[in-house]
Amino acid sequence: MKKATATAHPNIALVKYWGKRDEALILPHQSSLSVTLAPLSVTTSVEWGTAADEVSINDEPAKGSELKRVIAMLDLVRGGHGFARVVSHGNFPKAAGLASSAAGFAALAVAARAAAGLPRDVKAESVLARQGSGSACRSIQGGVCVWHKGSRADGADSFATQELTERHWPELRLLVAMVSREEKEVKSRDGMRSAVETSPYYAEWTRDAEAEVPRALAALRAKDLRAIGEIAEKNAWRMHATSLAADPPLCYLKPQTLEVISTLAGLRRDGVPAYFTLDAGPNPVVLTDAAHEATVEAALKKLGASSIVRCHPGGDATVS
Ligand code: PMV
Repeated sequence: MKKATATAHPNIALVKYWGKRDEALILPHQSSLSVTLAPLSVTTSVEWGTAADEVSINDEPAKGSELKRVIAMLDLVRGGHGFARVVSHGNFPKAAGLASSAAGFAALAVAARAAAGLPRDVKAESVLARQGSGSACRSIQGGVCVWHKGSRADGADSFATQELTERHWPELRLLVAMVSREEKEVKSRDGMRSAVETSPYYAEWTRDAEAEVPRALAALRAKDLRAIGEIAEKNAWRMHATSLAADPPLCYLKPQTLEVISTLAGLRRDGVPAYFTLDAGPNPVVLTDAAHEATVEAALKKLGASSIVRCHPGGDATVS
């Protein structure tokens, strides 16, 4: 029996990936940049040599498309190792408002390779994780990672690299605010496909996002909260605008999302640095720093956020 266990953090993109040029290999139209989120993590163990593939996620057998995606990743590593048992646990509830797929596929990629006796190789792990969930390629390493879109048809040059470690700016805070518990109606996969195929703004979006990556990196390197906050907000608005202009139009925002956004603008007028980003859903992630975390959290609570998870930059995926 060959077994390994790996732990990875989720990440939040400040310059987003929104649209694939290859759906099967998960190759994006633009590069993206993210920060890993500690203390949130997913721990996954893979044991090769079982009688059949068995997958359990948070103590429940995986089913449907989730199961298919895990098995598709095992297929990429399997070789002569046969079937595997996969057991995965997240330390945060799905209800926290964060997609767990980035951390889940990153931990699975690292554990599956390690259990197969392959040496650690962050590039190979990132390429593998990308094929489970695009954003997972940015959860192999900690701190700030950039997913380079690449240009090859086989995806060998489409992976993430670490640009700043989690020790660069430990005072950075990312507050995940759950304002709406409604299930999202349109999955990222389908939302991005409709933007690529029908939004008249799509080409401009990719051009704009690509140019934003070096600017975001410079702002993070300088620990300039205002500069990175303004870039993150602008990028999130533009991603959502691309989908609002799709046919049929796709709106992930809820009234409570807009309430948070206008409250943050009010906080800034009072000298409190707080900026949002939004994935494909209504729950904002708020950027601030350690000195203003309590003030921002209190304002979000007052707005009725049902849960707020305080995060800071996390480290690399590890094998235990
Ligand atoms: O990796 P996926 O399929 O979960 O898509 C992620 C898409 C966004 O979260 C909206 C943006 C991003 O870059 O993470």
